[in-house]
Amino acid sequence: MQNFDIQEIIKSAKNLFKKNESVIGLDIGSSVIKVVQVRKEQGRAVLETYGELALGPYGGFDVGRATNLPADKIVEAIKDLFREANVTSRIGSVSLPLSSALLTMIELPAVDDEKLAQMIPVEARKYIPVPITEVALDWIVIPKTAEEEAAMTGDPKKDRIQVMIVAIHNQVLNKYEDIVKKIGLTEGTTFEIEVYSSIRATIGRDLSPMMFIDMGAGITKLALVEQGIIKNAHIISRGSQEITIALSRALNISIAKAEKMKRDIGLLGKDEEGKKASEIIESTVSYIFTEANRVLLGYQNKNNKTVSRVVLTGGGVLLKGLSEHAKKWMEAEVVFGDSFSKIETPAFLQAVLTDAGPEFSVSIGLALKRLQELP
Ligand SMILES: Nc1ncnc2c1ncn2[C@@H]1O[C@H](COP(=O)(O)OP(=O)(O)OP(=O)(O)O)[C@@H](O)[C@H]1O
Ligand SMILES: [Mg+2]
Repeated sequence: MQNFDIQEIIKSAKNLFKKNESVIGLDIGSSVIKVVQVRKEQGRAVLETYGELALGPYGGFDVGRATNLPADKIVEAIKDLFREANVTSRIGSVSLPLSSALLTMIELPAVDDEKLAQMIPVEARKYIPVPITEVALDWIVIPKTAEEEAAMTGDPKKDRIQVMIVAIHNQVLNKYEDIVKKIGLTEGTTFEIEVYSSIRATIGRDLSPMMFIDMGAGITKLALVEQGIIKNAHIISRGSQEITIALSRALNISIAKAEKMKRDIGLLGKDEEGKKASEIIESTVSYIFTEANRVLLGYQNKNNKTVSRVVLTGGGVLLKGLSEHAKKWMEAEVVFGDSFSKIETPAFLQAVLTDAGPEFSVSIGLALKRLQELP
């Protein structure tokens, strides 16, 4: 029989715990998977590693294209990414696409949590276009600000609460749970709809109304946020791949060449060929931003509030020259999501990471969430 030394066991358990203090944020996008691994050190999140991998090649598409791959292909890609980026932790949080979720704000009487849990599925039936048994439901009670409380004195609606209901189709959740199991993430892995993660990683101290824009490959996601809470979410069914497709068609070049041109030249074309490319790029991007500005103005009018700032995230906003142009299209101050500033990073990487901030905002937000959840 083997002899167990209890001190040794305690020591190794401690080591295990220490090792386990690293967590990962895994953003499974439609075109790119991104991961960050961070550990908690004296109350701060410290970056250990990060990386990204294009999904296109796993489905026979070009880099930069939105995909809809089966779980097994995604698992293969994640395993490759973990290996390449030297990801060692298996404690994590994983993103769910906004496009597979339904967010609805409803008003209910102010009741206790238990009663609310009974009421939500009944109320949700009225707003969700599929049988309620086919979706997983979550909800967030929107706290009233002191100003809102004061303004409602004597109002018969004072005792009512605003609740954001989030519904996700079971099929989607099952697919993600399957992926998580196959890549070996531990039990207790949490999921979050991507916009919530991205906002956690890029919001500053300013709590005034803001719009977050995430330009991905196939679509662009918008979220209107007040006091750090999402009040409204919206999808524009165009993304950065539209630029590549437009360039490829107009200039009669391959998708791969168009993708390279998009990234190299962006909106800053100088010579004749470059200027022509930038014009084509501009017409696609201006559609997306004009549409986003329309949503912004609509929100302002409806709520009689000013949206003071627009925060840009997603790989699509890395387009060269976008900053200057976005200011033209959006009627608010425009900034880039600086998600790496929320965690401690090596000084020599700072410039690179500031530039990559908008791209990694979802994965950083997920890692921060998981760290907060640790005991
Ligand atoms: N430097 C760059 N300049 C211009 N476009 C870029 C650059 N880098 C990436 N992109 C574009 O950004 C898109 C990918 O963005 P992102 O990584 O946010 O996508 P995703 O997370 O997979 O998409 P989604 O969030 O919609 O699922 C691609 O279409 C790619 O061509
Ligand atoms: Mg994304």
